[in-house]
Amino acid sequence: MTTPPVDSALIDRAVRVLESGGLVAMPTETVYGLAADADNEAAVMATYAAKGRPADHPLIVHVAGPEAISQWAEDVPPEAWTLARKYWPGPLTMVLKKKARCGLWVTGGQYTVALRCPSHPWAHALIAAFAGPTQRGLTAPSCNTFGRISPSTAQHVADDLGVKPEGKLDMILDGGPCEFGIESTMLNLSDGHPTVLRHGVITREMIEETLGFAVPDAGSNAPRASGRLKSHYAPRTKLELCTAEVLPARAAELGTAEIAIMASAAVLRALDAAPMLAVEAPENLHDYGASLYENLHLLDRAGAKRILIELPPQAPAWAAVNDRLGRAAA
Ligand code: TXA
Ligand code: MG
Repeated sequence: MTTPPVDSALIDRAVRVLESGGLVAMPTETVYGLAADADNEAAVMATYAAKGRPADHPLIVHVAGPEAISQWAEDVPPEAWTLARKYWPGPLTMVLKKKARCGLWVTGGQYTVALRCPSHPWAHALIAAFAGPTQRGLTAPSCNTFGRISPSTAQHVADDLGVKPEGKLDMILDGGPCEFGIESTMLNLSDGHPTVLRHGVITREMIEETLGFAVPDAGSNAPRASGRLKSHYAPRTKLELCTAEVLPARAAELGTAEIAIMASAAVLRALDAAPMLAVEAPENLHDYGASLYENLHLLDRAGAKRILIELPPQAPAWAAVNDRLGRAAA
């Protein structure tokens, strides 16, 4: 996994595109984001149009560092500062009470704002160059058509949204494949009881260890979050999750030759015939997460009548992976 060195001429160009209200695909350590100037209502609305995403879905504001928090949020609880010091820059998003400065076009009409400071060197350089004295930020939903698999390479972005005039973006910054490949962990810190809105690489256990108390999942009355929709991250091909024990029999039942399969080497060896596509599932959690969306893209493109995926370990550390797979299979 290689991140090319930051090209400052391209960063400068991207800053000018953003300042004139344009849309830039920005590599982050999680997935590629569709960046726009968060203070520019028309630019932000253009990201909804490009994605085909309902305009009442709130966006994350990507900022240069903890110093931006008080420019965007108010009544910030001490836990937010503790977490920002510990995990920023990095894949942690915090939902806080918004300040008047943050437009309702960013938050889907809600009075909270999601803030994140990405660690990817290209994203970090871009936001640092863009921020200025008022700590300007970039809204950036994942850079994919609404409801589809999130992009973890610049090629995914080019294939899906693309660059104008054929496509919808003004510029794609290619910062290599994303390190983690799974969207940031999201916490709600806006109402006094921190809760997990979305699981990610920074696990609940890590957050609880840092804060020293339990941080439960947000209940069904949690603020709107499209990542919480059941059908999110869906490939076009129907996807089933199977345990190692039943996968070979299920493949045979469907006709192994017409199935795209991701499973451990042992399960792939136990198949009765060659599948249309066999992807060996990484055993290591980091590799599994980092390649998850790339593998879903591959499996989806195979032209199979079904995708079968071996259920990964159900341990707490695998919560984000299991969450995304569960939604992809819904
Ligand atoms: O890793 C990430 O977070 C990536 C990269 C590009 O930074 N971004 C990302 O954005 O995943 P998006 O828009 O695909 O997912 C953000 C989620 C959405 O489900 C949105 O509804 C939720 O965060 N969200 C944003 N602002 C919120 C708020 N104020 N309250 C509750 N949920 C919010
Ligand atoms: Mg998304």
